[in-house]
Amino acid sequence: MADEARWTTRRYGGYDTRLPLGPDTELTQVAPGTPGGEYLRRFWHPVAMTAQLGDKPRAIRILGEDLVIFRDGGGAIGLLHKHCAHRRASLEYGRIEAHGIRCCYHGWHFDVDGTILETPGEPADSDIRRRICQPAFPVRELKGLVFAYMGPPEDMPAFPYLDSLDLPGHDLVPYSIHSPCNWLQETENAIDPFHSVFLHGRVNGPQFPGLEHFVELPVVVYHKRPAAIVYSHARRTGDLVALRFHDYLLPNLAQNGGMFQKLSGPRSFGRTSLTKWVVPLDDTNSRKFGWRHFNDADEVLRQGKRDAVGWESVDFYGQTAHRSQEERQSNPGDWEAWTGQGPINIHKREYLGTTDEGVAALRSRLRQDIRAVAAGRPIVRPEGTPDAPVPTYGGDTIVRVPQANDDRALLEKLQREVAEIYFAADALTGEARSERIKRDLHDRFPGMERPA
Ligand code: FES
Ligand SMILES: [Fe+2]
Repeated sequence: MADEARWTTRRYGGYDTRLPLGPDTELTQVAPGTPGGEYLRRFWHPVAMTAQLGDKPRAIRILGEDLVIFRDGGGAIGLLHKHCAHRRASLEYGRIEAHGIRCCYHGWHFDVDGTILETPGEPADSDIRRRICQPAFPVRELKGLVFAYMGPPEDMPAFPYLDSLDLPGHDLVPYSIHSPCNWLQETENAIDPFHSVFLHGRVNGPQFPGLEHFVELPVVVYHKRPAAIVYSHARRTGDLVALRFHDYLLPNLAQNGGMFQKLSGPRSFGRTSLTKWVVPLDDTNSRKFGWRHFNDADEVLRQGKRDAVGWESVDFYGQTAHRSQEERQSNPGDWEAWTGQGPINIHKREYLGTTDEGVAALRSRLRQDIRAVAAGRPIVRPEGTPDAPVPTYGGDTIVRVPQANDDRALLEKLQREVAEIYFAADALTGEARSERIKRDLHDRFPGMERPA
């Protein structure tokens, strides 16, 4: 919380206020060897879209490291340090081979795992290629994204395979958007349901079709989970109570509810429209990678536009830099909010209020886990497989419950009850999980759809 002494108590007190200059380095630094960077290296992160892997290598920057990514002639993807182990020529100018990549400068040839296959200028009996490797990271390709693990191999977690990746009727379209600011800023936006009331409603007018009821202040509940902070928010319209669940999986993965929803009647265990990671490129740049979920059940207004989803583009309001300054000032969106905080937001200059409970909880959990990694203690990470995926909850349930005298307390209670119904089915997967949740919601709330 803010330190009162830093703030002026006088009107026109600009001169009085000498706020600290330094960022919260523990949470915002991402380079190798920094506490935050070491923590972030304990997770799989998306680093590229497969659509970008063509006949030339691509230079990318992830977690403060300069890298090159390519798909070789055999289809294998390599993620190597950008600078060649020989004399540091950039492998972005290298030649992709049937197997691996060849440096343009003296022809050293590297496999995707960093093995040196050939040092053609060296004598035939040279053993350089057996003595060292080009630094490389393991990758995994999934639904149009490439993920990498950049941490110590002995501590590699299972991939965070989510149940939401194989939902019936969901078509996942990958996308990626750059933000010129520290990764924490965009990611904190995903755990702040109150900004929607103002940024997407009261201050600028409604920005998302179907979510006009977001102008009401929600009743919010944070549900702590081992490797996630799940939160829900509830709003009432007459007898209908819309309960929207969000997933925040540590450290940087979020899922929200349906994008183009409609508050017209009961809805049972709706699912997410968006799965997204905010990946640090370096301390002052980040890149979101994720999937838009196109499906009829959770986007009843059918305003999604597949063609608008891809590199530097997504089909909903205010997510990219690609608008004029006039447009951005007239009707700022999420992108303006998180980049406008500066290259690295300085937490000690903030003055947090009651709407910031989620942001504060996230920072404190990150700090705790960063310190655990620094001390060599284990942390809980989201880990799953297609057969036993990580259960997630992002999505909408709408129940019919009459207003109570203390409606705020009722809305809180309803969220806890629905969360308990969701969490009680964690051991189940796929349709069995969905049916159990829908059955329990049907038994608890009148008028809910009856599961098959
Ligand atoms: S710098 Fe790459 S082979 Fe010489
Ligand atoms: Fe937003």
